[in-house]
Amino acid sequence: MRTVLTDKVASGRNELVAIVVPDKARVALPDNAPAASLWKADFGDKPGEIVLLRGAQGHRWLLIRSTKKAAMTAEDVRIAAAIARNKAESMDRTSVTVDLSLTKQSIAQLEAAAEGANMAGYDHAIMKADRKKTVVKKISIAVSAANAEGRKAVKQGSITAAANLCARELQNLPANILTPKHFAAEARKVARGSAKISVKILGRKAMEALGAGSLLGVAQGSVNEPQLVHLTYKPGGKSKGRIALVGKGLTFDTGGISLKPSPGMEDMKFDMSGAAAVLGAFEGLAQGAQCDYEVHGILGCVENMPGGNAQRPGDIVTAMNGKTIEVLNTDAEGRLVLADCLCYTDKKVKPDRIYDVATLTGAAIHALGHLTSAVMGNDDKLVNGLIAAGERAGEAYWQLPITEDYRKLTLGQYADLANINKPGQGAGTIAGGCFLSYFVGDRPWVHMDIAATAWNHPAKPYYSEGGGSGVATRTFLELLRSA
Ligand code: BES
Ligand code: MN
Ligand code: ZN
Repeated sequence: MRTVLTDKVASGRNELVAIVVPDKARVALPDNAPAASLWKADFGDKPGEIVLLRGAQGHRWLLIRSTKKAAMTAEDVRIAAAIARNKAESMDRTSVTVDLSLTKQSIAQLEAAAEGANMAGYDHAIMKADRKKTVVKKISIAVSAANAEGRKAVKQGSITAAANLCARELQNLPANILTPKHFAAEARKVARGSAKISVKILGRKAMEALGAGSLLGVAQGSVNEPQLVHLTYKPGGKSKGRIALVGKGLTFDTGGISLKPSPGMEDMKFDMSGAAAVLGAFEGLAQGAQCDYEVHGILGCVENMPGGNAQRPGDIVTAMNGKTIEVLNTDAEGRLVLADCLCYTDKKVKPDRIYDVATLTGAAIHALGHLTSAVMGNDDKLVNGLIAAGERAGEAYWQLPITEDYRKLTLGQYADLANINKPGQGAGTIAGGCFLSYFVGDRPWVHMDIAATAWNHPAKPYYSEGGGSGVATRTFLELLRSA
């Protein structure tokens, strides 16, 4: 979407000019707009309230109330810009201006405006005949004085939004279409979009040769061949270090022989949201997101099915690092897939740090609800950096502990490890993280459990009501440019 920074607001008949009005601020409108006496009484003072002003010849202004100027956050602006975009769409306007001239116009706010306006207007009904096409073709962010720094912020904001939308589009695809092979093809497409990105794809044979028995054990119940996707981004200049992003890409999770109940099982098409978040971040990099690091994306794309060759509870598999694992519950498959993805990352990629992201445990919903993702790791500085990046990006994380006492709970009876803890021990989200900790070698590592936030998130103007959220993509892009 064409997104520009401007300091000249000109309303036209196909345009909606949306003015973000801080609490208590006075609005100055052009002469052809209706006088304040005509609309003042209709304009509330709660953030999110709007009033539409009608001028002659189709001129329209939308006033959007926000918080006080001094207190207005980037998220406030992101939301206001999304409200503007949604309104422009419903009015069939081909362009929308988000006028920020009454705000502080900080760089973070300009970026958030571009982000919110671009993330909104998305219809998650991906395969409906009458899926809503966006009407808006141009977004303008208006400020009092446009400069190069502001232009860069607007560009980065629109790239971040495109990356988020890429992740959401993948999430919303059904599992009969988005198979592991289809996912790998999507990764190839992203890589083709940039000379800085290359991709390598490993199928079953290549993974057998590596000894990735943990991942392959999950895959063996499905006729859809698993794919380990390895994307590499090389920055233009000298690299500041090597970062690996590892994503759980279960294109569908039936639970396997430890079959999930039918109600709601359809949502397990979203079990690839971690991999989608990573691929979304690569789409951002392909489009020019700022990043001075060498970035590796490792996606474990697998389908968990109860086929005739499916693994059984009690089976023992061996991961790439030689650790043996008792599969006590075939539904705790994400950690089995990630175990080998993490070993691969540790041994083949050798990064300075690892971030993995996964819809790993339903328990994350109990711990934090749908508002906050769980995060843990073996390096508090790295964890705190991730939380801070999330805060700047508008995505919330909360740390859970990983200690030796917790880690011991995941040791096995017949093998080195078991893929679930004993009944009654609780702490399901921590258990998932602890299990993964055995596969990262000595590398600084952060684990993000997005089971509660990848979909079913609370409604927001820049999310559609339903469908995936693309969570973690924006956090990653924020991390990569600042880390
Ligand atoms: N993909 C699920 C986790 C999940 C559940 C995500 C609900 C989002 C909503 C994961 O593979 C899983 O099934 N985890 C089990 C682990 C258990 C068997 C230890 C769970 O959370 O029930
Ligand atoms: Mn599962
Ligand atoms: Zn799963």
